[in-house]
Amino acid sequence: MYILGIESSCDETSAAVVSMGDGERRILSNIVASQIETHRLYGGVVPEIASRAHIEAISSITYEALSAAGVTIEDIGCIAVTSHPGLIGALLVGVNFAKSLAYAKGIPLVSVNHVKAHVAAAYLEYGELEPPFTALVVSGGHTSIYDVRDYTSFCEIGGTRDDAAGEAFDKIGRVIGMPYPAGAAMDKLAYEGKADAFNLPSPALAGDNLDFSFSGLKTAALNIINSERQKGSEPDHADLTATYTRVIVDAIVKKMSIAIDKHGTNRLVLAGGVAANSHIRAALERLCDKKGVEFYRPSLSLCSDNAAMVAAAGYFEYLAGRRADTSLNASALDGDMTV
Ligand code: KG4
Ligand code: ZN
Repeated sequence: MYILGIESSCDETSAAVVSMGDGERRILSNIVASQIETHRLYGGVVPEIASRAHIEAISSITYEALSAAGVTIEDIGCIAVTSHPGLIGALLVGVNFAKSLAYAKGIPLVSVNHVKAHVAAAYLEYGELEPPFTALVVSGGHTSIYDVRDYTSFCEIGGTRDDAAGEAFDKIGRVIGMPYPAGAAMDKLAYEGKADAFNLPSPALAGDNLDFSFSGLKTAALNIINSERQKGSEPDHADLTATYTRVIVDAIVKKMSIAIDKHGTNRLVLAGGVAANSHIRAALERLCDKKGVEFYRPSLSLCSDNAAMVAAAGYFEYLAGRRADTSLNASALDGDMTV
């Protein structure tokens, strides 16, 4: 069946058509309109501007997705929309648009959790992948480890107590002069510096838990930058970025190693915008090789926010018999993950 996915939880307006069922998991179109250039002027996402930009783009992006897929709205068997978590005003644009379209055309509507959608990106890339598996979602808003029991039920087994890994990259990147979002530029610069140039605290919480805290690391890096600036100089950006990246990668490897041992993981899925980080990908690849775990990491275009992943997650909600109606509301919070 053809599923139309709609995504507007943060700063990308996206619509996609995927074909799912009878062994098929195929992306027919995946159109993403990024607002990054607009938000860059302010050094981060401005929620009100994001909502307005979604309103301007959503209708044309959706029709672009349908025509790029070579289908019409009449061919669509289900509309899947991200309803949570995210920026409330931004989410509401996609939810209201999807509700109106579904109601007007008499098409079933399903509500999708954005974090589950990031994980569902892996189904599109790996036709044979099926739960159960362990998933690490690292994005601008999340750093969470899930025990994925079936296609729609996730149990959170660990995660950050404060900031997300993406925020940690973006924040320090911004302070050293990189445009928002800084993740990809930090990734590149980390290759040019010494990874042991500074003493930075690990964002892995002590013990055999699966939890992180990035705020202490961020503060420590800021202190290094500020104390150099007070002396009229600047820390070496490449060295700082390399060290900062190394402690984040080491923490992720440490916690995922514990997760694999504790939960008998034999399949690991890496998802979310920060899953594009080449250092994290390479380190988890090595860890999975060492532990005999199958490693699934979607390609970069499916890691960042897009509606194909929303459509894929929506298909499994549809199969599970869940339906939304015109009472569907958006929510800034996660809501449906068990802990
Ligand atoms: O999943 P995503 O597109 O949006 C959210 O749902 O948050 O993730 C965006 C985040 C940003 O913080 C961005 O800096 C980060 O992903 N990111 C990266 C890389 N590419 C994007 N972080 C580290 N290394 C990268 N290569
Ligand atoms: Zn996301």
